Amino acid sequence: MTRIWNFSAGPAALPEEVLRQAQEELLDWQGAGCSVMEMSHRGKEFMSILAQAEADLRELMGIPEQYKVLFLQGGATQQFAQIPMNLLAGRSADYIVTGSWSKKAVKEAQRIGTVRVAATTEDSGFTRLPTAEEIKLDPFAAYLHVCTNETIHGVEIPAERIADTGVPLVADMSSHILSRPVNVEKFGLIYAGAQKNIGPSGVTLVIVHRDLLGMAPLNIPTVMDYAVMAENGSMLNTPPTFGIYIAGLVFQWLKRQGGLAGIDAVNAEKARILYECIDNSGGFYTNPVDPDCRSRMNVPFVLADAALDAPFLAAAKEAGVLGLKGHKSVGGMRASIYNAVSLDAVKALVGFMNDFAKRNG
Ligand SMILES: Cc1ncc(COP(=O)(O)O)c(C=O)c1O
Repeated sequence: MTRIWNFSAGPAALPEEVLRQAQEELLDWQGAGCSVMEMSHRGKEFMSILAQAEADLRELMGIPEQYKVLFLQGGATQQFAQIPMNLLAGRSADYIVTGSWSKKAVKEAQRIGTVRVAATTEDSGFTRLPTAEEIKLDPFAAYLHVCTNETIHGVEIPAERIADTGVPLVADMSSHILSRPVNVEKFGLIYAGAQKNIGPSGVTLVIVHRDLLGMAPLNIPTVMDYAVMAENGSMLNTPPTFGIYIAGLVFQWLKRQGGLAGIDAVNAEKARILYECIDNSGGFYTNPVDPDCRSRMNVPFVLADAALDAPFLAAAKEAGVLGLKGHKSVGGMRASIYNAVSLDAVKALVGFMNDFAKRNG
């Protein structure tokens, strides 16, 4: 068996240790005589898996007691609608647009209610963050929405740029959650699809301050109401049980890596060597993003000669390096270096890129 060096944007690489444990437990989970996929979500076995996953996540992120943790379905895309459904309460919400995902969030929220774009960097091709002067906030907004890591454009908002604006801050952290320590208390609501740093697709994590619960109008579907989901411990209906189980194994793996501080150090080094490779390539590879907001998880880059794109991808495949094709909307290349992508994997990528540049530059 050969495993590839996997730089896919998502669904993405999972820690091999986690996959091996899941494989070992697949036919018989800890003496239950069946797999996690085959057991009742209300039985004591699965209830213990869910409780442990939540406890480990709370410990990793330092989630205070006044926040509810929900394991939902529907992906981050469903949250684009569910957030305004629950939180608008007839008011308007502000959105800062720093890439394709926050732009999509605006479009979806507009189907539900009134939305203002408080700032956008689209004129730069989403290669920078807005300046403080460019951000025009509504002090009466129901919430302010940001995407703290734009997966397609490779723009990440550094923690020190997250300021208190006086309204609840809602953050799409799909592609960098758990990659570094975070101060949860700065946020009213954090959400993330699982398929990058949490586990398999099908689980959506929502961490919401209890003050934001119970604001939804009565005519929204029950399954979309955060308060109902919270009251029922994410078990109003059948939750994505196997995905939650794998997420729980990923949380335990993260704890063994030294928690978020431990993985933060590895992620910083991975990003450093990859950006160094790009910046020192003499223009063979370039990344267009302002250095102060370059993503540590998603690194887009282009080759100076686009005619080399196909040979680059073919040679990468030959070298066992996969998942580098950029998103169709922007083209070029992108290496996603999530938590489960090891420093060795990034070293292999950098080695391949240096070699390809030498042979073709
Ligand atoms: C930042 C961000 N938000 C939202 C989404 C949409 O997620 P989903 O496909 O889970 O709906 C993605 C998917 O890649 C993403 O990267």
